[in-house]
This record gives sequence, C-alpha cells and structure tokens, in this order.
Amino acid sequence: MPSLSIGANRIYGEAAFEVLAKAQELERQGKNILHFEIGEPDMETPKHIALAGINAIKEKKTHYVPSIGLLELRQSVVNEIEQTRGFRPNTEQIVITPGLKPGIFFAMLATVNSGDEVIYPDPGYPTYGSVSAFLGARQVMVPLLEENKFQINPDDVKKLITDKTKLIIINSPQNPTGSVMTKKEMEEIAMLAEEHDIFIISDEIYSKMTYDTTHYTPTSRDQAQTYSILLDGFSKYYAMTGWRLGYMVAPVSVAKRLQDFLVSAVSCTAAFTQWAGIEALTGDQTFIAEMMQRFKQKRDAIVNGLNSINGVHCTLPKGAFYAFPNIKKTGMNAQDCADHILYKAGVAALPGTAFGPYGEGYLRFSYATSIETINEAVERIQSIFE
Ligand SMILES: Cc1ncc(COP(=O)(O)O)c(C=O)c1O
Repeated sequence: MPSLSIGANRIYGEAAFEVLAKAQELERQGKNILHFEIGEPDMETPKHIALAGINAIKEKKTHYVPSIGLLELRQSVVNEIEQTRGFRPNTEQIVITPGLKPGIFFAMLATVNSGDEVIYPDPGYPTYGSVSAFLGARQVMVPLLEENKFQINPDDVKKLITDKTKLIIINSPQNPTGSVMTKKEMEEIAMLAEEHDIFIISDEIYSKMTYDTTHYTPTSRDQAQTYSILLDGFSKYYAMTGWRLGYMVAPVSVAKRLQDFLVSAVSCTAAFTQWAGIEALTGDQTFIAEMMQRFKQKRDAIVNGLNSINGVHCTLPKGAFYAFPNIKKTGMNAQDCADHILYKAGVAALPGTAFGPYGEGYLRFSYATSIETINEAVERIQSIFE
C-alpha cells in the first residue's frame, strides 16, 4: 500500500466516541449504562425550526446554493451579531458552514503554516490540537487551572507568545470545563493579538448557554475586521447537531479565502438546513431560556451530587452543559477513574485527558440528560467510592 500523507498520520480523533463504543459494548452484554460522554443537548430541534427545514424541502430548496451561504441567512447573522455582540458586521464578512467544526478547520487552514505556533486552551476541544498537528504547527497549550476557575489567564498567553505565534484559539463558554471568560480577559487577549499581529479564532458555539453571567467575545475589539474570526453555530442551543449548520464572521479578505475552501471541500451548505437556520435566528427564542432553566437545575444536581462523593470536588461551571470534577483525591488517574466508574458503576464519562494533558486528574460529565439519570449516576458512583 502507498504511504499516507504526513498530515494524515498526524491528525487524530476524539475520545468521546471511544468511550461511547466501550459503553455500547457493555450494553450489548446486557449492562445498564448511564451516558454522560457525548456533548449533545437532550432535546429535539424546536418544531418551528424543523418545519422551516421541511417546508424548504417541499418548496424544492434542494439544489446548490452560493458557497458563502444564502444572502438571507447571512443577513440574519448580521442582525444576530449586532444584537448579541454589539457590532454590526458587513454581509461580506459572513460565511455559512456545515456545522461549526468545518469553520475551525478552514479558518486554521487559512491562517496557519507548518512551523507556526498555535496557542489554544488545555484542557480544550480536541479539534484545535488535531488540526494544528495536521498542519505541522507547534501546539502551544495554555493551561486552564481550577484555581483560576478554568478561565484563560491573559498573562499566561502573553508568556507563550513568540515571533512564531500565528494564532490564538479562544473558547468561551468552554468545553470541557464550562468556564466563561470575563470581558476584561477577552479584551486583554484581543489587545495581545493586535499588538503582536496574531489571528484569534473565537469558538463561541455555547454563546447562549450561560448561567447568571454574560458571554463576551474577543472579536468586538476589531469587529472581526482585521485579525479576529468569530465562529458560532446552531448545533447546541438550537439543538440542531444533526442539521450541520454554523457560521463565521471574518475579515473580508479572510472570508473570501474561506469561501474558496468551502468551494473546494463541500461546494455549499445544504439549502434547506440554511432555511431552518433563518427561522432559528428570526423566530421564537423563548425555548432557549426554558432550556437553560432546566440545564441550570441539572447543573446544580450534578455538581452537588459530585461534591458529595468521597475524593471528588467539582467547581460550579458558568456555561455550556459540562461538569469537570477533580478526582485527584481518589488516587486514580483520569483514564483509570473513567474506566472504574464505567465498569463498576455503569456510568460513562470522559477522562479529562481526552482534552489534553492538563485534563489529568479530572473527568468530564455532559449533563444534558434527565435529573433522574443524574441522581442515579451520583448514587452509583457514591456506592463504589464509599
Ligand atoms: C467547543 C466546540 N466547538 C465546536 C463544536 C462542534 O460544533 P458542530 O457540531 O457545530 O460542528 C463542539 C461540539 O461539541 C464544541 O464543543
């Protein structure tokens, strides 16, 4: 067999799917497993949004559309950014993508060369490291520490900047820790990028998922016009993971290149999905507040429950739907602890190390499940750590 490309040997996958496979194998053997491994809301796409997609198919909106995205959706995104981020981009800055993840991939492809340095949070979403590795960039992790509520400390970023730094990736609210960065932290990081001529990619997929706190973007400083690229999407807070729809707000010259990546890779994002997206942005939003109300109860249930377990300590997350308990006092490492609770208690969670070396000593629970499942999982884990 001919050899694969260097990049193909460097790119890597996600542990969430490995744990899911182990859990499903146990289920095949007849075991009852409680699932906390996959990061997906436990509700269906709201009816009015789904109907807009169905009607679009009925109206034969099933053909190719412009690679950069439908003008109507891009205009809706412009209004959305104005309302939620406080600046009004031009439609030329908006690029529609099939999910947020391709946005990360293309934005990194468009900005990073082999040998460049990419600063990203650790623990953090695995795609940042995987794509950096694929590109032959140096992976520079900025540690998210429990004593700093898992928020990025701008001083740590400053220390990591060299003349090779090309990109800083920010993710708030954050996966896997649920941390939310402050306005001041965001501004300081944006100022560093500006001063050192570095791109920022801001992954804001959980932007509407905060508890008693406000979401800030580092892109408001330059209004995504010179060095910052804002990524957001419909997967999480509109419960549309399977529809595959996201968007980027980028400097016009970058947006033009991103459009070329889309042309070459996917031609365009599905037309009917985009019509559903227009309804999502412009239609009734009340279900988001209702969903977040329920998530808050679940968050409190899992955090209180985890804190009642011997050797476990969990910080209260301010966003997303993940709890990230410290399990160091159990005496186990993250992988062994995740296996222990899977095989002994039938609870599937991810080891913190699935999100990078600084995730050692932690587990990630996606609490987008019922309160009953959360309470049962806590009882089961309690019983094996007595
Ligand atoms: C931080 C972060 N970014 C991006 C994504 C992917 O979003 P999408 O499903 O829209 O590609 C996820 C999904 O888990 C995520 O947690």
